Amino acid sequence: MTQEVNGKICNLGNVCDCVTVKDLDPCIIIIFGASGDLTTRKLIPALFRMWINNSLPDPVAIVGCARTEFSRSEFIAKIKKECMTCATVAESQWNDFAALLHYFQVEYDSLNSYLQLKMFLKDLGAAKGTHGNKLFDLAVPPHLYSIIADNIGQAGLAHQYKENNGWCRLVVEKPFGSDLYTSQELDKSLHRHFTEPQIFRIDHYLAKETVQNILMLRFANAIFEPLWNRSYIDYVGILAAEQIGIENRSGYYENSGVIRDMFQNHMLQLLSLIAMEPPSHFEAERVRDEKLKLFRSIRPFTEKQGDVVLGQYGPGIIGSEAIPGYLGEKGVAPDSLTPTFALLRFAIENWRWQGVPFYLVSGKRMKRKETRIVIQFKEVPHSLFRDVLKESVSANRLVLSIYPEEGITLSFQTKSPGASVCLRTMDMDFSYQESYKGVSLEAYEKVLLDCILGDHMLFWRQDGVEEAWSLLTPLLHSCERCENRAQKLHTYDAGSWGPDAAAGIIEKIIS
Ligand SMILES: NC(=O)c1ccc[n+]([C@@H]2O[C@H](COP(=O)([O-])OP(=O)(O)OC[C@H]3O[C@@H](n4cnc5c(N)ncnc54)[C@H](OP(=O)(O)O)[C@@H]3O)[C@@H](O)[C@H]2O)c1
Repeated sequence: MTQEVNGKICNLGNVCDCVTVKDLDPCIIIIFGASGDLTTRKLIPALFRMWINNSLPDPVAIVGCARTEFSRSEFIAKIKKECMTCATVAESQWNDFAALLHYFQVEYDSLNSYLQLKMFLKDLGAAKGTHGNKLFDLAVPPHLYSIIADNIGQAGLAHQYKENNGWCRLVVEKPFGSDLYTSQELDKSLHRHFTEPQIFRIDHYLAKETVQNILMLRFANAIFEPLWNRSYIDYVGILAAEQIGIENRSGYYENSGVIRDMFQNHMLQLLSLIAMEPPSHFEAERVRDEKLKLFRSIRPFTEKQGDVVLGQYGPGIIGSEAIPGYLGEKGVAPDSLTPTFALLRFAIENWRWQGVPFYLVSGKRMKRKETRIVIQFKEVPHSLFRDVLKESVSANRLVLSIYPEEGITLSFQTKSPGASVCLRTMDMDFSYQESYKGVSLEAYEKVLLDCILGDHMLFWRQDGVEEAWSLLTPLLHSCERCENRAQKLHTYDAGSWGPDAAAGIIEKIIS
């Protein structure tokens, strides 16, 4: 579907009606780490789909930077393979996109490289007409973030917006540090040359349609919010189960583990969207203010039993394939105590949520890949069917499915047809796939689009990052530095739903 928005032909279907789509500034997108996995599998394919859907700025140029010695055509050939698997296009269309791609070899710690890059970008920008606008994306291992940001700044490329100079923005991938201290150090280094409005800390979970939809569901409907509190909600469960293991990323995962990899970012963002108070406006700073308030009201973890269950997968079977345990993965220490599974029970100390447990569960090598949020309502206060029914009346449940389906299901009780009085649980189902046939943006397309638009709504603000680390750092220390660390780590079979110690809660979320 194409339509005209602000004088531009746009191919985004219904997305065009949304407030965030407006004229996109011409710009150069500069990706550091362009020879790497994230660039090849996610970033450039996302830009390619955006280009096909006419949602890239015009003019635009994309410059890959890395140490690897690539000619421009070698770089394009490497990228082409991945892009062609994500969209069916004619060769001529690919050639048009390829014309936007450039490659510039850099040494990440050499100022001279950046001074040369500056000249290259100046010439490219002048030839293309991108008005000095630049988006730098750091798709490199985290230890390079400060080095690159610093050199960009020293080369005079980190300029703030000026009429004749254009804008300059910096995109940073997670992880934002590995604890509170390192995240503050990273932030200090980014702020040496960039201001907070110039920095975009990506959490691609936030860009998923169903995740964005949480705020719409809660605050654009009158029927949910009055029930969205401790009087009516029994518990909330958030599950992000992965079937894949650590793939080839043992170096990263051994130092990270599931709490840093999933909870410090994605899981806490999902929690904040479910639990935060309504912002006064649908505007990035107001929404991020409310998230911050929510993080501040989470009770610090204690060693109370059941609040934390950590696990590590052992060997098992997924489908018909025999899967090695975590300790058998390439690059993992044979005595590693890194958790690949965690169940954390969060308590939120405010009037709305006092006494309502929030169970957050994430793990690798679980039975299937599934992401869902379960809002379990309380049972009816008094059942008038008590005398005629043997069973108790099941409570209502609202499930927000993020993967594999994207949709919302509300379960409720109805009478079973027939002479006898029986209740049955029925579902009201909303499926994104079935109800919307237009083109929708995948997560990385959405985040890149928002960076170009300068919209921070879906990105972490540093105070939120620090609050999340403040909450999780003591837990990480107690898990990683305690003497009985091994006893705290429960083994579970690959292909299962996690350790037995978590079974009761998992049952509440997946049933
Ligand atoms: N991959 C994903 O799906 C994913 C998802 C979310 C977040 N992230 C984050 O995104 C960033 C990039 O991830 P990635 O998987 O693309 O990383 P990667 O493939 O390991 O590294 C990207 C590039 O950085 C350079 N590099 C790697 N190790 C280096 C070292 N020790 N010293 C100097 N340069 C080095 C290499 O390019 P040259 O040698 O050519 O310079 C490499 O191609 C990471 O911070 C990661 O945590 C990745």
